[in-house]
Amino acid sequence: MTTVYILNGPNLNLLGLREPEIYGHDTLAGIEARCRAKAKQLGLEVVFRQTNVEGELVNQIHEAREKAKGIIINAGAYTHTSVALHDALRAVALPAIEVHLSNVYRREAFRHHSYISPAAHGVICGFGPQSYELALEGLAAILNNKGKA
Ligand code: DQA
Repeated sequence: MTTVYILNGPNLNLLGLREPEIYGHDTLAGIEARCRAKAKQLGLEVVFRQTNVEGELVNQIHEAREKAKGIIINAGAYTHTSVALHDALRAVALPAIEVHLSNVYRREAFRHHSYISPAAHGVICGFGPQSYELALEGLAAILNNKGKA
């Protein structure tokens, strides 16, 4: 089975409680369940992780290099600050999809810049939990050579 890593950054453990007017009422466990169902349809195996620690995200990206064929990443606020995550994604050279629940371009100006995007194959934002399912579809297409790599 083809394995993909779905990595989640800071504060995403509080989904459901955290600013529900922006992020909705789904918990991260609920999003994980949706991802697992979608991955099953697509014939993908999912490793789903969350950490509030930047360096742990770097380690998980490195781990994916050996254990996975692609990465879906919601780096949370580190999206807008982390050269280390940018470098890690470039270093492992796996197809990566950047996801966000919210449409970051409708929000504060500091969310309009991403260090992840230049290292990603594509970006999906603004669809709530469905952003993750769309990312899985996109990643599956890339891995089946049906998506533009
Ligand atoms: C987020 C958007 C980020 O700007 C924010 O810092 C988050 C969540 C999203 O999924 O919409 O923590 O990545």
